[in-house]
Amino acid sequence: MTTAIRTEDLVKSFAGTPAVRGVSLEVPAGSVLGVLGPNGAGKTTTVRMLSTLLRPDGGRAEILGHDVVREARAVRSLIGLTGQYAAVDQDISGWENLYLVGRLTGLGRRGARARADEMLERFRLTEAGGRAAGGYSGGMRRRLDIAVSLVGSPRVLFLDEPTTGLDPRSRNELWDEVRALAAAGTTVLLTTQYMEEAEALADSLVVIDRGRVIASGGTAELRARVGGQVLRVVPEDPGQLPEVRRVLAGCGAGEAQLDEAAGHVQVPLSGEGGGALTAAVRALGAAGIPVAGVNTHVPSLDEVFLTLTGADAGADAGAGAGSGAHDDETTRSAA
Ligand SMILES: Nc1ncnc2c1ncn2[C@@H]1O[C@H](COP(=O)(O)OP(=O)(O)OP(=O)(O)O)[C@@H](O)[C@H]1O
Ligand SMILES: [Mg+2]
Repeated sequence: MTTAIRTEDLVKSFAGTPAVRGVSLEVPAGSVLGVLGPNGAGKTTTVRMLSTLLRPDGGRAEILGHDVVREARAVRSLIGLTGQYAAVDQDISGWENLYLVGRLTGLGRRGARARADEMLERFRLTEAGGRAAGGYSGGMRRRLDIAVSLVGSPRVLFLDEPTTGLDPRSRNELWDEVRALAAAGTTVLLTTQYMEEAEALADSLVVIDRGRVIASGGTAELRARVGGQVLRVVPEDPGQLPEVRRVLAGCGAGEAQLDEAAGHVQVPLSGEGGGALTAAVRALGAAGIPVAGVNTHVPSLDEVFLTLTGADAGADAGAGAGSGAHDDETTRSAA
């Protein structure tokens, strides 16, 4: 098995403030790695080091066996990068952007022309190809950006939050494109803030937070780390929320979280949830707390992500972006 991307203890600070504090990764050739993390986690900084745009302060990184610092030129010939922010020249047309990059990557005039036409077609930009890229919509610019990063047929592709700002149709098209690239043997490292996107595309995941890898594995493994089901209890009297939390802390598998705005307390249940659920309801009854509602649900991928990164899982309740939550069971109790 060839390793396409290998990093050991990568470190980078900006003016003394650490941004990446020892990231180690190993990505097999031909696979897709999803790098998840909240704002400021160090995703872009890591990608910039791997794509030779930023020199690491410590540790090392290799692309297909080539060191990103000592063999930067060789690395550049192997990779493609779509940065978080559009990098195309706004003043020239989409076609010209593609043609110029083709020439820069060593294609002859005719080859670069053919490649530019081909990429416009592949990314549904043929009609707009003659217009200045500055007049493109966000989604068109994003597609052009990705087309530009693929002109040189890279063996390793970095996509930094490739679908942020895309409408669902463009996002799905981009997902198909990533899948096709992976099927053709391209190694892809993509960063995202959406667990759903990572699950849709990635063979494996790493979650980074504050410059460190805090979890890695497949989505199923990460879900398992957070626990099976989550119990949610709504007391009749919101004033009793802290008391509910205290009681549930003794029944669940994890930390009980209080969401004042939503008026509930949540706690991950151990095992299949049945026994733990009964124990929780009994304990609330024994404590004499009248309960307006009790339910259990499988955590959404967003909740898994929020739990791993230590944010308040309740903070975004109701935002619903990409939520895969579904209620399994609802019990009303007159305890
Ligand atoms: N050029 C820079 N100069 C100073 N600080 C920087 C620079 N680039 C990044 N940082 C800081 O390093 C940390 C990590 O930033 P980075 O852009 O890698 O995060 P990210 O995971 O890509 O976040 P986002 O999801 O918002 O894109 C942040 O605290 C950021 O402010
Ligand atoms: Mg970023």
